[in-house]
Amino acid sequence: MAGLSKPIDVRGRKPYSVDQFVIPDGSSEYIKEILISNGEIRDRVQKLRCEIAYHYQGKNLFVFGVLQGAAKFMFSLFENFPYVYQHKLIEAKSYIGTRSGPVHIGDINADALSGRDVLIVEDIIDRGKTLDELLSRLNHLPNSIEVCALLDKPDARAVDVSVKYTGFIIPNEFVVGFGLDYNDDFRYFPHIAVLKEKVYSG
Ligand code: IMP
Ligand code: MG
Repeated sequence: MAGLSKPIDVRGRKPYSVDQFVIPDGSSEYIKEILISNGEIRDRVQKLRCEIAYHYQGKNLFVFGVLQGAAKFMFSLFENFPYVYQHKLIEAKSYIGTRSGPVHIGDINADALSGRDVLIVEDIIDRGKTLDELLSRLNHLPNSIEVCALLDKPDARAVDVSVKYTGFIIPNEFVVGFGLDYNDDFRYFPHIAVLKEKVYSG
């Protein structure tokens, strides 16, 4: 399995309606439509895990999960991973509501990464600024640095960043679910979904 699979592009696909899947009680009044079902996420995560395992066999893997959004994805991705690795969660924040702003990144002990093979795990690549900032902080010491993102919104990109492992390509819309939030809400939602307008208007 030397080659990498292509991300699943859901941009041209008709979204699912909320009544087609089981959703948490009380959430249907906020969710407009579902872009990616929980089952599809889990199947794709399994494939990414296989590809990552293939690549990091015999390497000195250090995984960085970017808080808060990527925590759920990172733990799913590394569940039953067949090799030893270290992981750490780091804080990065650039959104207030659906508005993006300056990137804030928590402390990184870069010395611990010397000679390691670093994998950054992100929930979503949007403008690319968070990842770009993070990469610039890690740039010198590791043996290698790669990125794995559950979602990619290429139509929103402002900074060119290279992502080796991508789950899905989605349209340029604000999404929630599977760890992704709107003001710390909807992380619990099992599917990747678009919210109704009324959620934003208050
Ligand atoms: P970037 O710096 O614009 O690439 O933004 C990346 C970060 O913003 C991600 O790690 C997310 O935490 C957050 N973000 C971007 N788009 C969305 C979205 O559609 N839903 C939830 N969070 C998002
Ligand atoms: Mg994030």
